[in-house]
Amino acid sequence: MSKLRTIGWILFFTSSIVSGANTLAPSVRLNNGLEMPVIGLGTYLANEGECERAVRDAIDAGYRHIDTAYLYGNEKEVGNAIRSKIDEGAIRREDVFIVTKLWNTFHRPDQVEKAFQKSFENLNLTYIDLYLIHFPLAYKQVHKDGSDRTPQSVDDVNLFPNVNGRPVYDDIDYVDTWRAMEGLLQTGNVRSIGVSNFDIPQMERLLSQVTITPVTNQVECHPNHNQLPLIKYCNDRNITVTAYSPLGRPYLAKNNLAINDPKVQAIAAAHNKTPAQVVLRYSYQNGAIVIPKSTKQQRIKENFNILDFSLTPEEMNVMNSFNNE
Ligand SMILES: NC(=O)c1ccc[n+]([C@@H]2O[C@H](COP(=O)([O-])OP(=O)(O)OC[C@H]3O[C@@H](n4cnc5c(N)ncnc54)[C@H](OP(=O)(O)O)[C@@H]3O)[C@@H](O)[C@H]2O)c1
Repeated sequence: MSKLRTIGWILFFTSSIVSGANTLAPSVRLNNGLEMPVIGLGTYLANEGECERAVRDAIDAGYRHIDTAYLYGNEKEVGNAIRSKIDEGAIRREDVFIVTKLWNTFHRPDQVEKAFQKSFENLNLTYIDLYLIHFPLAYKQVHKDGSDRTPQSVDDVNLFPNVNGRPVYDDIDYVDTWRAMEGLLQTGNVRSIGVSNFDIPQMERLLSQVTITPVTNQVECHPNHNQLPLIKYCNDRNITVTAYSPLGRPYLAKNNLAINDPKVQAIAAAHNKTPAQVVLRYSYQNGAIVIPKSTKQQRIKENFNILDFSLTPEEMNVMNSFNNE
């Protein structure tokens, strides 16, 4: 455990503070030499009308990393918010790190560039910092009108092909998809590529067969699912882990969520922090980049404010006790 904490702190101390008016989060140096801020704003379920304002609020609060995906349907709003902040003179394009993702229906190697191009146009931000394979599994590509017609554009594709509610998969190897992702780097329109939802065996297989190492693996990661073995596996190979759902997805109202636990409330009170801040700090101290989602201005600020305290080894042990997966 102490080794993992050390890795977390090495990430912290080797990172650099991006200059600017606000207090900004440090960045971690990726395996391709580029830098990625260690706190980002998640945007899944940030709906039309609220996403753009949330991203603007996040930039005002000091966030310089925004996570979206083609699936979320809000890439245009994210792009609009960033461009408006650039136009205001609050940031330059190179100050922000924009992440989006390849959806499961576009894994066929000849579809990867087409899907990327759609996200690139939606965001309309000169370049994308990081493009991820959203999941290590492929869905069959079918027309959203239910006909047998071949979809002519990305917009024509049914994102959740299913028969009686069961997903229809396609037999496409994520290694082949990854090779097409590698090809995207040649276009200059994306600077880094990575993966999401890959477990250790999937990482192992990918790394053994490809030439470019993913810069990050974005996975579910919070005290109830702390991912310590995967963080160690990735960090040992100079791959960052991005913690998604870092608050534990309180909107699913699961039982025993750390964020709602009296022990976490006590730790929070001892630091004059909130349970959300303690939960985020925990994964950060374990070496993960965290991307909490909120569309509420106050929470956006709260979730960013995790760098001015640290959890003691005893408190980290209490937090470790929530891990149940
Ligand atoms: N790669 C993947 O497969 C994948 C999967 C899931 C998520 N993600 C990414 O990770 C991001 C974060 O994950 P997530 O959205 O699933 O879950 P999360 O960040 O763990 O939780 C978000 C939920 O917590 C609430 N919340 C935010 N701040 C809070 C606070 N300080 N106190 C109490 N509640 C708070 C939010 O509500 P309000 O908005 O009302 O504040 C929202 O309902 C996503 O938005 C997405 O960008 C990636």
